[in-house]
This record gives sequence, C-alpha cells and structure tokens, in this order.
Amino acid sequence: MMEDPDGWERYYKRNDRRQGSPLLRRALAMIVPDQHGQSAVDLGCGAGLESGLLLERGWSVHAVDKQRSAIDRVEAIAQRLPQGRLTTVTSHFENLGPLPSSSLVFAGMSLPFCHPDGFPRLWALITHALAPGGVFVGNLLGDRDGWSSIPSMTFHSLAQVEASLLEFEVLSFAEIEEDGSSMRGPKHWHRFDIIARRR
Ligand SMILES: C[S@@+](CC[C@H](N)C(=O)[O-])C[C@H]1O[C@@H](n2cnc3c(N)ncnc32)[C@H](O)[C@@H]1O
Repeated sequence: MMEDPDGWERYYKRNDRRQGSPLLRRALAMIVPDQHGQSAVDLGCGAGLESGLLLERGWSVHAVDKQRSAIDRVEAIAQRLPQGRLTTVTSHFENLGPLPSSSLVFAGMSLPFCHPDGFPRLWALITHALAPGGVFVGNLLGDRDGWSSIPSMTFHSLAQVEASLLEFEVLSFAEIEEDGSSMRGPKHWHRFDIIARRR
C-alpha cells in the first residue's frame, strides 16, 4: 500500500490541473528572461507542476520530496518534456544530503513542513546550493498562522524571516494574513511569499 499518512496524494490530485505557481512565474520573468540551460532545485515538488514549468523552459531540475508518489508524478511529467533534464531524490528535508549547485531554489508551500529542529540545516543547504546571484523563491509560514501550534512544523516571525534573508537581496516580499481554507478545512493563513537573490 502507498505510504501517505499526511494525505498528500489527495492534495496532488486536487492540484494537478492548476497553473504553475504565480510566484515562480513572476520570479522567472524578473530574474532570467529568455535564458535556458540553467539548474534549479524544487524542494517539496508535490504534483510536479513547477518542476514541469521549469523543464518546459529547458531547465535542469533536481526535484525533492519525501513522498515517492510525488517523485513518480514529476518523473512522468519529465518524460513528456525532453527539452529539460530531471534528477530526483525521495527524502525527508530533515535527512537531505547536499543539494546541487543551482541558480534557482523553488520551495512552494513546503519548507514549513520541515521539523523546526531540522530547519536551520535545511536553510543552510539552500543557501549553500545557491551561488552568488542565485535566487530563492518560496513561502514560509508566519507565527500567527492557524497551524502554528503543530510542533512538527516550522513557523517564522517577521524578524526571523528577515534574519534568514541576511545573505540575500530581497527582490519581492509579501506578508499575507487572511482567513481562508486548506485541504483540512477553514484556516487562518499567515504566509510570507519571497523572491530573494543570494548576495
Ligand atoms: C503543500 S505541498 C506543496 C507541493 C508543491 N510544491 C506545490 O506548490 O503545490 C508540500 C509538499 O512537501 C512535501 N513534504 C512535506 N513534508 C516534507 C518533509 N519533511 N520532507 C520532504 N518533503 C516534505 C509533501 O510530500 C508535499 O509534496
């Protein structure tokens, strides 16, 4: 039986027809207009839509997810997009080895699912993978988020996000706080959307 205690497969099914992340699209338009042959990491690739978006544009993508079913999905997408090159690793963030040197690290709604004890090491892997000029694109959850009492997840205050970005030039930053919903029902969202270039 497929191991999926967190119900991610339901999330992938519900999301696999959406457009790729608007935040990633915006970042690509800002940072690398019309460039090809670059390398990216997609952390917590989920249904693989953002990896697909990058592969379609000729990027080499290293996709990471703890769920084997997510990796199966992204590998199936890559078979239809031979203009890009995909490598994958099935791993928890907490056990992840070094990441390949990359000009982009994308982490769409995935880093908060790293255990707080593992987050500093994960963030160090991300900053280490990015050469100067490389760009981080992704989301963190804030300390007023409705899930912030879940001990296995990582939440940041604004000051903590700013401290994490000291080695970066911030290209776009939004703090969003609103009532909405998630796969688990109604939810108060407190989220940071980040596009930042490694100094
Ligand atoms: C909310 S989904 C986001 C998927 C995709 N990036 C997107 O934007 O739709 C979070 C993803 O992170 C993965 N994930 C959650 N916790 C993880 C962990 N500790 N290590 C690695 N991957 C994890 C899940 O399997 C899931 O695919």
